[in-house]
Amino acid sequence: MGSDEDGNEHMNRSNSKKQFNSGLPRSLRNAKGVFSPPNGGELRMQQSGLPHHSAVRNEHHMYGPGGVTPERGMILPFQPLSIAFSEISYYVDMPAEMKHEGVPEDRLQLLTSITGAFRPGVLTALVGVSGAGKTTLMDVLAGRKTAGYIEGDIHIAGYPKKQQTFARISGYCEQNDIHSPQVTVHESLVYSAWLRLAADINPAFKSQFVEEVMELVELMSMRDALVGLPGMTGLSTEQRKRLTIAVELVANPSIIFMDEPTSGLDARAAAIVMRTVRNTVDTGRTVVCTIHQPSIDIFEAFDEVLLLKRGGRVAYMGPLGHHSHKVVEYFEAIPGVQKICEGCNPATWMLEVSSVNVENELNIDFADLYEKSFLFMRNKALVHELSQALPGTQDLSFPTQFARSFAGQLSSCLWKQNLTYWRSPDYNLVRFVFTLITSVVFGTIFWQIGVKRDTTNDIFIVMGALYAATIFMCFNNCGTVQPVVGVERTVFYREKAAGMYSAIPYALAQVMIEILYVLIQAAFYSSITYAMIGFEWTIVKFFWYFYIMFCSLLAFTNYGMMMVGLTPNGQLAVILASFFYSLFNLFSGFLIPMPLIPAWWIWYYWICPLAWTMYGLMASQYGDVYTKLTISGDIIVSEKKLLSVSQWVQDYFGFRHSFLHVVAGMIALWPVLFALIFIFSIKFLNFQRR
Ligand SMILES: Nc1ncnc2c1ncn2[C@@H]1O[C@H](COP(=O)(O)OP(=O)(O)OP(=O)(O)O)[C@@H](O)[C@H]1O
Ligand SMILES: [Mg+2]
Repeated sequence: MGSDEDGNEHMNRSNSKKQFNSGLPRSLRNAKGVFSPPNGGELRMQQSGLPHHSAVRNEHHMYGPGGVTPERGMILPFQPLSIAFSEISYYVDMPAEMKHEGVPEDRLQLLTSITGAFRPGVLTALVGVSGAGKTTLMDVLAGRKTAGYIEGDIHIAGYPKKQQTFARISGYCEQNDIHSPQVTVHESLVYSAWLRLAADINPAFKSQFVEEVMELVELMSMRDALVGLPGMTGLSTEQRKRLTIAVELVANPSIIFMDEPTSGLDARAAAIVMRTVRNTVDTGRTVVCTIHQPSIDIFEAFDEVLLLKRGGRVAYMGPLGHHSHKVVEYFEAIPGVQKICEGCNPATWMLEVSSVNVENELNIDFADLYEKSFLFMRNKALVHELSQALPGTQDLSFPTQFARSFAGQLSSCLWKQNLTYWRSPDYNLVRFVFTLITSVVFGTIFWQIGVKRDTTNDIFIVMGALYAATIFMCFNNCGTVQPVVGVERTVFYREKAAGMYSAIPYALAQVMIEILYVLIQAAFYSSITYAMIGFEWTIVKFFWYFYIMFCSLLAFTNYGMMMVGLTPNGQLAVILASFFYSLFNLFSGFLIPMPLIPAWWIWYYWICPLAWTMYGLMASQYGDVYTKLTISGDIIVSEKKLLSVSQWVQDYFGFRHSFLHVVAGMIALWPVLFALIFIFSIKFLNFQRR
């Protein structure tokens, strides 16, 4: 059992897999012209001073630990690295549904003692039926699991894997292509490169590297195309897949995981993507792909196969062989297994003959058979060898966790947020138009009512106008920012897992970009409504009005962001945010004036942001007005009993002009507080379950 190696195997692979023109399956060759290396195949890869297994060891032995020598070079050097893993098991807590069905165990095992290795320049296919555990294995190896229990050892170039350094030398192309919609292909790549390439690399080299990657994955023609939303605008599914690959490649990783890069694509598109994957391997990187129902051509573009069966057990790990002959030989040698028919798809055949039905029929277990095979012994020996560090080499180490400093991360995040905001008219233009319309509507409804200060009714109307307009504007800001932050948060999870930045600069950039837009919005709103409502024309009073509105709008924008940060999905964020709307409304000081709020509820008045807004707006406008006021409804009022505007506002609403400096501080505190909670929720709460 288990096919032995012969010297021809390496030749086969070098010639047939790596040189697409000759040996690559038909459709790949024909997909879009003949594959031609953009730089004429010129080998420019420089060897770093770090340990380098490839090419040095076992160059002519397919099962050598080093893998194969790179064929394509790029401007930035990288270190070819192997990943060897032994006895990997993974468990999750038993799902409640299964417990209810009477399963006694506390843990559910998803991966069972998986041993294997992936080497530079070797393209490995991770195959198995749906639910076999392919994604789980990649997640465990890449350190992307957020829950569960992992057992076993993983070694990178002979040294135990450390997640922090691993994130710097690996890339993970997720099955779902998650990208910020409002940036172009080139900008997405520049952003990824800037955040993931070491800060000391010459910027000109970085730019050139981005260009090279774009050529490698054939994205040149859509360089300035906006990414857009999947299925709606921008790139097609296939172009999106290639962008996903490119975004990882610009980080110059040594090891790349790709989860189903060809799923959901038609044959032609899959061939184009596969060609870019092959190009990537030919640069000497270690690449592992999960594939689902591959065509013959796609399947045969791989060098090695890791077949998982249900329960996360290995049924085969080894070479594919020319026209899949190694795999076919292995399975056909098992007594009872049906022979492959002429022209049949070996990938489909392999899955069929190793299915649970066949196992039951033949009363065998393919995982047991594999564990008794010569192939397994050899894999174990290889893993053992790759788990030992070569003498004279050093473990990977980087001076800092992230490639860029805090300021570098913040400026890159801000750069992308700025582009995104500028190109999101459905969010920003709409909110400006909305502000304009609202201001004019309120201005015309309450036209020049601010001029009148003769009766208490006049003051009531102004208070009502301010209350209605503020609620309208603030709640609207809160509602509209939520989906924007929600979409970006999914991108954030991917980028954070890729080690691009820490959570704080990302969240801070999100807060900072809003400040700019809210400032413009507040300027619009304040100028229009102030003039139309007819408040007193003094610089100080106008500034108060503007300052209070700016802080309030910002507070509610940040409040919306905070709710997204604190909840797992948009729906819950909306529900939670609206729950507090009614309380804010009730305690704003308009529906129930502050002096009438029962003593045991007054605390809520003081923690209600809207109450501070109303306090500030009214106290700044009327707190220093000493003209006398007629109490509406009183028929006979002696001159002595008339109150000044200032006094009445204080008696009735509890607003004192002398308290304004406290209000000024508090009104600025709310946006800061909500922003801080948002930032820390992004940092400490992870709602992504993997
Ligand atoms: N957190 C979890 N709790 C319980 N079961 C889980 C969990 N994560 C994954 N599984 C189960 O583990 C199995 C393996 O899942 P995985 O996503 O790795 O499969 P896959 O081989 O990638 O399948 P597909 O081809 O559909 O992508 C599935 O049956 C899945 O339902
Ligand atoms: Mg999967």
